[in-house]
Amino acid sequence: MPLSDVSWLALAPGSAAGPGAATGGTSVFAPLSSHADEIHRYSLFVLGITGAIFLVVATLLAVAVVRFRRRPGDDDAEPPQIYGSLQVEVAWTVIPVLIVIVLGLTTARTIFQIQDRAKPPGALEVTVIGRQWWWELRYPALGIVTANELHVPVSDASRPAPTFLTLLSADVAHSFWVPRLAGKTDLIPNKVNRTWIDPRKPGLYVGQCAEFCGTQHAKMLLRVYVHTPEDFERWVASQKAEPDAAVGGISEGRRVFETTACLNCHTVRGTVGDGRYGPDLTHLMSRETIASGAVPNTPETLKAWIRDPAHFKPGVLMPAMQLDEARLDALVGYLQTLR
Ligand code: CUA
Repeated sequence: MPLSDVSWLALAPGSAAGPGAATGGTSVFAPLSSHADEIHRYSLFVLGITGAIFLVVATLLAVAVVRFRRRPGDDDAEPPQIYGSLQVEVAWTVIPVLIVIVLGLTTARTIFQIQDRAKPPGALEVTVIGRQWWWELRYPALGIVTANELHVPVSDASRPAPTFLTLLSADVAHSFWVPRLAGKTDLIPNKVNRTWIDPRKPGLYVGQCAEFCGTQHAKMLLRVYVHTPEDFERWVASQKAEPDAAVGGISEGRRVFETTACLNCHTVRGTVGDGRYGPDLTHLMSRETIASGAVPNTPETLKAWIRDPAHFKPGVLMPAMQLDEARLDALVGYLQTLR
């Protein structure tokens, strides 16, 4: 497959080797988290009411079309014109007003039910920072920083383990949306928003930035990996570990990383690179994708990405570093060691 054909569809759940990968998809009608459950229930209620309105209107329309259609032998005279009917006008004013009030109140109730959920002690805290065009993920209590692929524990009835998300933006408005786990919550500059998820099944859940945030908005994808408690512990331990390259000698590839502009934007723990403008690369190889879920993470795509990021994401803020082939290979070789 040519690199240009790599699309997020190629990364559709099922093809991904995520933990128990089959729980992907983006249907709001297949919720697997309390927040998404409330929205699902409410969607059915609204669909019921609006569906009933559609049926009534469509039936009346069909009756009118059939019953009052032109027939052979019509005299073409205008039918009797009726002006003003208090009963009819009261009915078609009061009924819609009541419907709007019911929908408004039930919407408010659903919103408050979701927002008022108390944070249980011990809940996992993650700070999600929207950036053009990727997600910075920080686990303050665990000292973990990663990008685009959110890892959380499963939360079943016997062991509730919700994850609370603090949503911030570094630039423009973004929106965090993983349909099977929670409704959209915006990430707004200079405003702190909160949401939470408690996925019931391990697996990979995909999502998408849901607020237009610039040219690469469509490729600001989200991946949520839900683990069993044991697997989550393992993931945490692997993220806290120093990468091998940081304890070993300094390779040619690491020298390239440390002597080009890479380090202004990227952090690799244990090196002089401590930039925060781009994703933390300390455990880059633990991620299945690069470019915010838009490109699978393989040595070939990684090399093509560094050669020309705009090939995959036109308008991307990462510049092409103009490295010659030998230095590019050395750099990719070094990045492969960041496990
Ligand atoms: Cu970020 Cu759209």
